[in-house]
Amino acid sequence: MQLYKKLMRPLLFTLEPETAWHLSDLGLSQTWLWKIMGSGFQHHNELLKATVAGIPIKNPVGLAAGYDKNCRFLSSLQELGFGYVTGGTVTKNPRPGNPKPRVIRLKDQSALINALGFPGDGLEKALSEISKMASVPKKSVRIISVSGTDIADIAECHQQLEPLCDAIELNISSPNTKGLRIFQEPSNLRSLLAEVNQNKSKPLLVKTPPYKSGEGDDEKVLNLGRICLEEKVESLTVSNTVPIAHDGLAVGQGGLSGSPLFENTIEMVKTYRAEFGDSIEINACGGISSGYQAYEALKAGASSIQILTSLIYQGPRIVQSINKELSELFTNRGNPRN
Ligand SMILES: Cc1cc2nc3c(=O)[nH]c(=O)nc-3n(C[C@H](O)[C@H](O)[C@H](O)COP(=O)(O)O)c2cc1C
Repeated sequence: MQLYKKLMRPLLFTLEPETAWHLSDLGLSQTWLWKIMGSGFQHHNELLKATVAGIPIKNPVGLAAGYDKNCRFLSSLQELGFGYVTGGTVTKNPRPGNPKPRVIRLKDQSALINALGFPGDGLEKALSEISKMASVPKKSVRIISVSGTDIADIAECHQQLEPLCDAIELNISSPNTKGLRIFQEPSNLRSLLAEVNQNKSKPLLVKTPPYKSGEGDDEKVLNLGRICLEEKVESLTVSNTVPIAHDGLAVGQGGLSGSPLFENTIEMVKTYRAEFGDSIEINACGGISSGYQAYEALKAGASSIQILTSLIYQGPRIVQSINKELSELFTNRGNPRN
C-alpha cells in the first residue's frame, strides 16, 4: 500500500480523475504482470469463506460495479485477492455518457462525485471481452452488472452475458442516468424481473438505491426489496452512490461515493436485515475502506462487502489489507455473522 500511497497516488492525483483512470487502465491491461504478482496480493483464511448470492467465495470482499465498465480487465482484477469481481455496468448499446467534467475528487473526505452516466462500449464489445476470459483460470467469482432504460434491452444483456459469468447484478440505482429510475417504480421493477426470470439460470443480484432513514424514502426502497424477494432475486447490493449537486460537474449533479457513505450503509444493511431476516443475501456497498468497517458491515447483516472508491484512494493492496484485518477480527472477536 505504501508504494501506491507514497509514489503512484500523488502522481495519478495530479491528473484529472478520468485521465488518471485511463492511465491505471494501461497498467491493468498487462495481465501477465498481475498474474506474476498475484500471489503477493492474496490472503487466505478458512474463516473468511463466505457467499455472494449463494455462490461460495474465498473471502467476502468484492469489487463493486463501475471500475471496469467494459469488462476488459477482469483477468487482472481477479488477481488482486477479491472474493468476487463485478464487471460493467454493461448497457445494450454503446453510450458516450454525460459531458465532461464528470468526476470530481474530494480528497479531504476520501470521496468522489461522479456523473459519468454509463459511458460504455455496449453489449457486443463486453461479450467479446468476456469471451476472451473463457480460457483464463478463474481466481475469483465473476459477476456482470447490467442496466438500461428499456426492459427488452436489459433482458437481452442478461440473457447474453449470464452464460459467461457466475451471476448478474441488475443496476436500478445509478443517480446519473436519465430514465433509469423508472425501475424504482414497483410495477416497472416487477415487469423487469418477470422478463429477466424467463431465461434466468444463475443467481441474480439487484443493486438498490440509497436512502436516509427518516427522509421519506425508507418504505419505498424497502418495498423494492420485497418485490425482489417475491421475484426470487438471490441478493441485494445496498447500495449505490448518493445524489449530490456540485458546480464543478458539467451536468451540475452526480453521485457521492467513498467514506462519507459508510455510516448510512451500515444503517441500511441493518434495516434490510431486520426486514428480511435470512431470506435474501445482502452485499454492503458504500464507503468501506478497512477490515474494521467490513467487519461492522458483516455484523450488521451483510454476507459480503463491495468496494470501489477506497480502491482508488488506497490502491490494489487494499483487498489484502481488508482481509488481513478481517482475519484478526474474526479470530479475536468471533464470526460477526453468528
Ligand atoms: C467512478 C464511479 C463509477 C461508477 N460506476 C458504476 C456503474 O457503472 N454501475 C454501478 O452499479 N455502480 C457504479 N458506481 C457505484 C459503485 O459501484 C458503488 O456503489 C459506490 O461507489 C459506493 O461504493 P464505494 O463508496 O466503495 O465507492 C460507480 C462509482 C464510481 C465512483
